[in-house]
Amino acid sequence: MITLDDAFRKFRSRLELNEREQKNASARHTEVREHVRSKFKIECDFLTGSYARYTKTKPLKDVDIFFVLQGSERGYRERPPSEIIDAFHKALVEKYGDKKVKKQARSICVDFGVDVDEDDNTNYRILSVDVVPAFRAAVDYEIPDTTSGKWIKTNPEVHADKATAAHKNYSNEWKGLVRMLKYWNNNPKHGEKPVKPSFLLEVMALDCLHGKWGGQFDREFQGLFATLANRIHESWPDPAGLGPPVSDGMDAARKNRAKSLLEAAGREATLAIHLARQGKHGEALDAWRKLFGPKFPKS
Ligand SMILES: Nc1ncnc2c1ncn2[C@@H]1O[C@H](COP(=O)(O)OP(=O)(O)OP(=O)(O)O)[C@@H](O)[C@H]1O
Ligand SMILES: [Mg+2]
Repeated sequence: MITLDDAFRKFRSRLELNEREQKNASARHTEVREHVRSKFKIECDFLTGSYARYTKTKPLKDVDIFFVLQGSERGYRERPPSEIIDAFHKALVEKYGDKKVKKQARSICVDFGVDVDEDDNTNYRILSVDVVPAFRAAVDYEIPDTTSGKWIKTNPEVHADKATAAHKNYSNEWKGLVRMLKYWNNNPKHGEKPVKPSFLLEVMALDCLHGKWGGQFDREFQGLFATLANRIHESWPDPAGLGPPVSDGMDAARKNRAKSLLEAAGREATLAIHLARQGKHGEALDAWRKLFGPKFPKS
């Protein structure tokens, strides 16, 4: 039977981006880019967000594409954020149809209608992209936010640098732990995701996974779930110090719900550790799989 350490390593590698998925993401990016470029004056566009930082979990969905608009499109920046979201939405509907294109607060989601099997596999295809219109603002960017009706500042390079530094400080285990944690968050057993946006988990992990990698995945998660539960009610600012607090996405009721689900995950981890200590190895693997979902291997 697979050892617990190997099971976690296999789980981690199943959540890594592989070449075929990157090829598919790149093909989708090219296709969306060509269409958007035919409709707006674009200075540059690139894949960003957790996908570009290697902190995205599986199944791969909502891969962010940033479209930096040229100065000649600046008129949109002077008007309410909903106008650029509407304009991008309209342009994308022309190509993909209104069933596959959805407005979100800061982006437009294009769904490619890919099926996910019971083991969360997608035959190496990405499910959807989030198209994010952006303007340059000195070294940063401004993106529309229709929830607040304001343009918000962001800087993906700063987020990427912080993730890289955290990863290095944590014996190169940090990104793997974040992907596993986000996979737990996506487990359909919760109904709605406990933590929203899942970027908040990454932001909390910048602070909560400090010190040194302890060398054991099971202990790391036991401690991490407990710390996250304890600190979910805190305010979590944008790590780049530019946008609104990332924790603003949840009201008090949602935070209470997240807290109890994180506490429950911590208890499940403790139980799984206990089973392994009693020599009930198969049951321990089952408990971890139940906690995380089908990509946690049993063999
Ligand atoms: N409150 C914020 N202020 C500034 N920038 C933000 C804020 N929230 C998100 N961002 C930036 O926008 C990017 C895309 O946001 P999104 O919610 O898609 O998160 P993500 O990191 O891509 O995570 P996920 O794995 O859920 O897709 C983030 O990676 C981050 O760089
Ligand atoms: Mg994203």
